[in-house]
Amino acid sequence: MKLPDAHPLAAGRTDRSRLVTALRGGAADTVPVWFMRQAGRSLPEYRELRVGTRMLDACLEPELAAEITLQPVRRHGVDAAVFFSDIVVPLKLLGVDVEIQPGRGPVFGRRHDTAEAVAELTAIDPDGLEAASGPIVEAVQRTIAELDRTDDGSGAATPLIGFAGAPFTLAAYLVEGGPSKDHLAARTLMHADPGAWRALMDWTSAVSGNFLRTQVLAGASAAQLFDSWAGSLGLADYGDFVQDASARAIGVARDLGVPTIHFGVGTGELLPQMAAVGVDAVGVDWRTPLDEAARRTEGKVALQGNLDPAYLAAPRAVLEAAAADVVRRGRTAPGHVFNLGHGVPPSADPGVLTDLVAFVHEAGAR
Ligand code: CP3
Repeated sequence: MKLPDAHPLAAGRTDRSRLVTALRGGAADTVPVWFMRQAGRSLPEYRELRVGTRMLDACLEPELAAEITLQPVRRHGVDAAVFFSDIVVPLKLLGVDVEIQPGRGPVFGRRHDTAEAVAELTAIDPDGLEAASGPIVEAVQRTIAELDRTDDGSGAATPLIGFAGAPFTLAAYLVEGGPSKDHLAARTLMHADPGAWRALMDWTSAVSGNFLRTQVLAGASAAQLFDSWAGSLGLADYGDFVQDASARAIGVARDLGVPTIHFGVGTGELLPQMAAVGVDAVGVDWRTPLDEAARRTEGKVALQGNLDPAYLAAPRAVLEAAAADVVRRGRTAPGHVFNLGHGVPPSADPGVLTDLVAFVHEAGAR
């Protein structure tokens, strides 16, 4: 399969954008910036739109999802939009009993911590996602119709990043039945019943890959795989029980020809393996300095990150010194996309984020 001719990347509307350039290891005029969770509760215009609509319902209302996706682009002048959705949306579309509880996260109707529960789940055909994805396709199309208007013919229109939860992070939620600190039940299933674990990972990998395919074919110019909970895994377990499933999921986007990003939290030890799944860039949390991350990944991939979100509430001079340090260390990588080390906290001052974008553009100019 290949990108449709009218796709923003294939048609040359986003291929010279800062984001695509940096992800492909090239030098743009300055360092591109976007923020994980840039759409969300830090924005008053988001909170206003969300009144009376539950999170997952908002994700499935195309006009609303497109508008929320565009809000931070307009307000902050970031170099990418990230699709407003959630990692559990494809599960919901496949009929899995899940909701998102405010302040808590995804909560499932049951735990999938036995071979029987996993078998019930894997009986659902992941390819059913295509038929159920109408609202996703429409939301992406509405979003890029707006973003494409930022192209002045130079190929630097603001690109949309599509995303999916990585197979392990999805599996961890499904096994635990909801948020968990250490994902103990997931890690236990892996060893107690490796067969059930592999069946679960094959299934979540297909779900994740299908969700990426939907967004990319509909118009996303880059794709990010979020393995938020991979940091709870040991090195050997990541290699034996997780890495291949992630490679297959993100491979769907890579094979379509869009640049890919692989992000995890607490994954400093796993960076070489996360790069080895075959991606253009690895997202680094705030714990590992980018020059050290570049050393660990042997300069083979671009890096994304990694300002500690804690700095957003620090005095301006302290924040700017930390941001400048991230830009400086990022220069040791083949390409650098500035981001936070994890998502924007709901308490963040949006004015601080807007100023940070301008600061990074200035500090990163060539
Ligand atoms: O702006 C963006 O980054 C795009 C939108 C996005 C959301 N979720 C919207 C959202 C993205 C990329 C995600 C991914 C996601 N969802 C991840 C991986 C990224 C990460 O943070 O590590 C994870 C683990 C989830 C699961 C999830 N969904 C959690 C933990 C929560 C927070 C619960 C809470 O209330 O604190 C959600 C809900 C969620 N997803 C919100 C948003 C904007 C907040 C819901 C609200 O506004 O009421």
